[in-house]
Amino acid sequence: MVNVYAASDIRNTKHNLANWSGNTYRSTDYNEVCVFCHTPHMAGSWPLWNRNYTEPTFIAYSSVMFNPQNFGGTGQPDETSKLCFSCHEQQNTASTTNLLNTSNLVNGSQPSFNFTKIHPTAALGTDLRDDHPIGFNYSAAANTNYELYTAAQAAANMGESVAAIFPGDQMTCFSSHDVHGKVSGGFVIPVLLRRLNASSMLCWSCHNR
Ligand code: HEC
Ligand code: HEC
Ligand code: HEC
Repeated sequence: MVNVYAASDIRNTKHNLANWSGNTYRSTDYNEVCVFCHTPHMAGSWPLWNRNYTEPTFIAYSSVMFNPQNFGGTGQPDETSKLCFSCHEQQNTASTTNLLNTSNLVNGSQPSFNFTKIHPTAALGTDLRDDHPIGFNYSAAANTNYELYTAAQAAANMGESVAAIFPGDQMTCFSSHDVHGKVSGGFVIPVLLRRLNASSMLCWSCHNR
């Protein structure tokens, strides 16, 4: 197994929601880092998920050029991207702080935060039409004439495995972002990207045009 954490540092990202993190958006009473997303026991499904989230119905992405539903998509986010939407769907994260494993609760209470709304650019809402398409089979799109690299080549371009960036062969939020913060040259790549986007190199990892 690849040791992801040799190359990750969530402590130095906005995903460090611990009360000591110094981030603009953080908890006021929890000092752990992983607990907001993971629990070792009594978890939901992969990846030992600790968030209780019932997703709404999203408005599907579709354009004159590309409809994810022609490539194995359902019109809804794929299961892995839904992990992100449990916080990033809404601006009011107070309603998304419900941790699954109640034995994790500090003083018996769900975490409190120093904010009620995250920055609107980080709250994607339920309308997928204004976001890069996700939730379809990457290889199916790459096998069509969209000027895309193969999944293997795209992964290699980002220095990642196919399994890491296309879980279940799906194009997901993880395909471009590393939720734990990928370290390159001693610092975390901004905006949690998998590759610096100088000269649009992140885009060119998949798009070959
Ligand atoms: C903001 C949410 C979030 C936080 C906080 C977080 N993780 Fe994760 N973690 C994820 C997501 C989403 C995945 C699945 C995608 C991936 O592997 O990148 C994951 C995957 C993992 C995996 C791999 C599971 C697998 O099946 O390959 C491990 C191990 C892990 N996290 C450990 C940690 C540890 C340890 C911490 C705290 C230091 C932590 N994570 C904090 C969201 C988070
Ligand atoms: C536990 C809640 C939570 C989960 C789950 C979560 N995020 Fe975040 N994320 C946040 C918060 C809070 C911020 C900071 C918001 C801001 O600065 O406006 C953030 C910020 C970000 C940013 C901006 C980072 C920057 O440096 O500007 C990106 C990109 C991001 N998240 C991607 C993801 C992806 C991809 C996933 C799923 C793999 C995910 N997040 C899951 C809470 C979460
Ligand atoms: C992980 C692979 C990947 C990355 C990284 C990526 N894309 Fe895409 N993108 C795709 C796939 C797959 C499609 C669907 C096929 C198509 O329309 O080309 C797509 C579609 C698009 C479309 C066309 C949407 C439509 O409806 O026709 C645009 C525009 C686009 N991407 C821009 C970008 C930009 C800009 C970046 C960098 C910020 C980027 N992409 C990064 C895989 C990726």
